[in-house]
Amino acid sequence: MSFLMLSLDFYPGAVVYGTLGLVVSYFIIVAGYRVLLHPLSHYPGPFLAKLTDAYPGYYAFRRRLHLTTYLDLQKYGPVMRHGPKKLVFNSITALRDIYQNEKVTKADSYLVSQAAPNVFNLFNAIDRDLHRVKRRLIGGAVSERSIRGFEPTLSAQVDIFVTGLLTSSGPINVTERSKRLGYDIVGHLSFGYGLRLQTHETNQFLINAIRLGNYRSNLNMQFPFIHKIHLHDVVGRFFYPSWDRFTSLLQTMIRSRLAQDKDAQNDFYAHVSNALATDDEDPQQIDLWTEAMFFTIAGGDTTAAAVAATFFYLSRNQECYQKVAQEIRSTFNSGCEVRGGPLLSCCRYLRACIDESLRMSPPGPSTPWRQLAPDEKDSVVMIDGHPVPKGISFGVNIYAFHHNDEYFPNPYQFSPERWLTPSPDTPENREPYKLMREAFSPFSIGSRSCAGKPLAYLETSLALAKTLWYFDFKPASGNLGQVGAGNSGAEIGRERPGEFQLFDTFNSVHDGPYLTFKPRGDFVWRDLHLLKKAETLS
Ligand code: HEM
Ligand SMILES: *[C@@H]1O[C@H](CO)[C@@H](O)[C@H](O)[C@H]1NC(C)=O
Repeated sequence: MSFLMLSLDFYPGAVVYGTLGLVVSYFIIVAGYRVLLHPLSHYPGPFLAKLTDAYPGYYAFRRRLHLTTYLDLQKYGPVMRHGPKKLVFNSITALRDIYQNEKVTKADSYLVSQAAPNVFNLFNAIDRDLHRVKRRLIGGAVSERSIRGFEPTLSAQVDIFVTGLLTSSGPINVTERSKRLGYDIVGHLSFGYGLRLQTHETNQFLINAIRLGNYRSNLNMQFPFIHKIHLHDVVGRFFYPSWDRFTSLLQTMIRSRLAQDKDAQNDFYAHVSNALATDDEDPQQIDLWTEAMFFTIAGGDTTAAAVAATFFYLSRNQECYQKVAQEIRSTFNSGCEVRGGPLLSCCRYLRACIDESLRMSPPGPSTPWRQLAPDEKDSVVMIDGHPVPKGISFGVNIYAFHHNDEYFPNPYQFSPERWLTPSPDTPENREPYKLMREAFSPFSIGSRSCAGKPLAYLETSLALAKTLWYFDFKPASGNLGQVGAGNSGAEIGRERPGEFQLFDTFNSVHDGPYLTFKPRGDFVWRDLHLLKKAETLS
């Protein structure tokens, strides 16, 4: 400030106007280039998005970039410029060309989530070789097989979830309960640590801490300028004090795990250190801390969104509710039988309800940005017939694509039936069915797709199945019952009462549904001592 005043005193007029003139000309030249001469200049898209990433940045700020992307695609067609150097696609060919392409890697914008320079975790390892090594090692900790071994621990946490429904008086905020469940499960999964959000207040701050952290990180990702000028470093301490509590809690978890024998728990840590012992991989490559941080966010927050969304849709679609309740109650003979395994996998209608919820309200509704790998010798990559040069980010937006009526007729209709074998099962019906299955991508596809899919499905189906065994549920009465839904007076894209609302922060923020739970017969009372046992063990 004082520098500015000085310069005004000493050099009135010329210097100030000169500088201003230079700055303005610079912006005019950059803008002119971006609109007229840039390799993407002939692609349609919102005018402001051609000029600056402030366009997606603004919608990320308002947590509605997924809705804006959907609406802009309606307007501009299936290939759209959505930032000076960004293309969004909206077809199955593009999905395959992008995410199943060996020449393609994650976009540079993922680097904003680095904990420190040159420290990478599974999520932000852009280099393909580094990723392959990490994925083999860490992916194994959440493989189908590892998760089978983890089932008893997971099941015990779901028991606590169920007892919590019984002991509450009045309507329950399912978002809150599912977040607590989700984080408790990843705490055990990563470092065999009982975070105990479900039963104690101490660590419940995690829910908000991670929510704010995701918001910040998504702003940086969509509008890298904010990251470049270190805006969040400056205001971060002020706005996000809870983030430090989160990181110090992670330190505590790691320290307590390191104090135990590596095989003392059936967790990520045991898996990784075993793999290291038998593998001559460089142990330095595993930065426990940053992997753990990502695991907690990727595993806890997303799965909670899936659980909350499925509760929401079932509570509002009576026919589906009846069918799935009937399926659970006829498949199992007792509450104790409701656990992960072949019987649960047989519940095909339950799985259809979960998939339909993941389609309509995908926990990661964003665009997973990709680029032609910088170390590829080609200078362009073909995406859906378009040659896209190096340095351009491209992707398919998960929320928008899941509402593309070419693949999902009546996209805003909750219809688990669409996932059951087509009936009649004729060749004409089979083709669109196959295409729809391929277009379904809540976990993304290809080598960078979600590593935690088996856990996500087990947690979601177990939470739903156990709850439906012991309870009947319905929306709370009055306004509380509407929390989490769209409504006709809301901003564009949020006007559908039947749609569970997502607030896009790369992951998603959501609220409700508020439901009332009524015990079914005396099942839960009879099993209470068994259900309660989980609490004392965890
Ligand atoms: C319903 C729940 C979940 C959904 C919808 C989901 C979705 C996704 C998506 C879309 C990606 C790709 C992100 C990108 O390309 O930027 C991803 C990556 C990943 N997810 Fe999940 N996820 C879920 C649960 C989990 C769980 C429970 C875990 C582990 C405990 C997990 C671990 C991971 C990991 C490690 C990656 C990075 C994989 C890589 O780059 O190799 N996720 N997830
Ligand atoms: C429901 O719980 C979530 C997560 O704790 C919270 O952010 C939200 O404000 C709660 N909803 C209401 C209406 O209080």
